[in-house]
Amino acid sequence: MSDPELIHPLKLFDIAKNEKRLLYTSAPMVRYSKLAFRQTVFAYGTDLCWTPMILAKEFNRNRFARDSDFTISTNGPQPPTIVQFGASVPQELARASSLVAPFCNGVDLNCGCPQSWACAETMGAALMEKRELVRDMVIETREQLRRDGWGVGKEKDMDNPKGRSVSVKIRVHKDLRKTIDFITTVLGPDQDRHIDWLTIHPRTRSTPSSTPINLEALSILTSTFGDRVPILLSGDIFALNALPFTTSSPLLTTPNPTLTTTTIPTINIPKLAGLMSARAILANPALYTNTYPSCPWSAVETFMANAARCPLPFKLVQHHLSEMCSPGMGPDKSALLSKQERAAMMGCGNMLDLIDFLDRVRGEGDGLARG
Ligand SMILES: Cc1cc2nc3c(=O)[nH]c(=O)nc-3n(C[C@H](O)[C@H](O)[C@H](O)COP(=O)(O)O)c2cc1C
Repeated sequence: MSDPELIHPLKLFDIAKNEKRLLYTSAPMVRYSKLAFRQTVFAYGTDLCWTPMILAKEFNRNRFARDSDFTISTNGPQPPTIVQFGASVPQELARASSLVAPFCNGVDLNCGCPQSWACAETMGAALMEKRELVRDMVIETREQLRRDGWGVGKEKDMDNPKGRSVSVKIRVHKDLRKTIDFITTVLGPDQDRHIDWLTIHPRTRSTPSSTPINLEALSILTSTFGDRVPILLSGDIFALNALPFTTSSPLLTTPNPTLTTTTIPTINIPKLAGLMSARAILANPALYTNTYPSCPWSAVETFMANAARCPLPFKLVQHHLSEMCSPGMGPDKSALLSKQERAAMMGCGNMLDLIDFLDRVRGEGDGLARG
């Protein structure tokens, strides 16, 4: 392939499968999953990265929205990227997808955002009550991309440099039968399904993120649909060695004996194709390596170098660093900085102060993680 960065995402699923492991992805995160962060997680073994949700309607109408919401790299690593949209009108999603298709590997529709402003506009989780509309949006988008000359034939276009994907990310309903009806409608016929893959966040619109994901729902949905469409799990992927379930794919290609499993999972999810992490990968961009159970300084350095090349607002850089230097979500609770040091870091007023601060604490410290 002449442009390896624009590999078809289904090819990445295929490569992971051949390596007998799950696909590793980083989640769409409003504010956070910008280019510098995506490049950082890509450097640490993430296969596929999502942008934050972008509002399709604004993106289509406003050049400033386009410039601020979607950045790609013209120099340096451009990780395989899925652009996620919030939309409620088929033509809006199709048009926005048509604009980004030359610069990304695929587009995704957010059917999970629980925030009231999104639901009031029939976007995000409100779409979980509008399965025909979601189906129409993905069909319209696929047709528009096809008219534009992109390969949207899923597996048939896996080796086509113009191959692009169309996917959706969903939550579940309290009554799982509604989720089954939703997926059946959106998926369409087996011989020509409407979506390349499906990401499931197994919480309902009103389940707080502190409540563990609904593994029983995930188990039922993956056994019902896992042979018909690749399925990614979004939710509670905190560490590769501490997943609350088992799969048919070994998670670590080269097992690291220093990593120990803290719980003994009992639920088996054999038909899962991949993992998507949000909160835990913010704290440890090296989550998918088998070497770093907590964030290493090298990931902070990689992020800072990427942020210098693909600038982010200073406050956002500070927030990212605060996440990376705090105890993570996995069983290893060591942190790069103590609470007092993190408070001092948040007190830095500009990028130069922040860089000086990091140099100082690293110089004073011994490079070892602190509790
Ligand atoms: C800061 C933040 C921003 C998020 N933004 C989005 C978004 O833009 N689109 C989306 O589909 N989900 C979004 N989510 C939800 C995550 O993608 C993910 O589904 C959820 O956090 C569960 O995964 P986790 O347990 O790994 O955090 C966001 C989550 C967080 C923490």
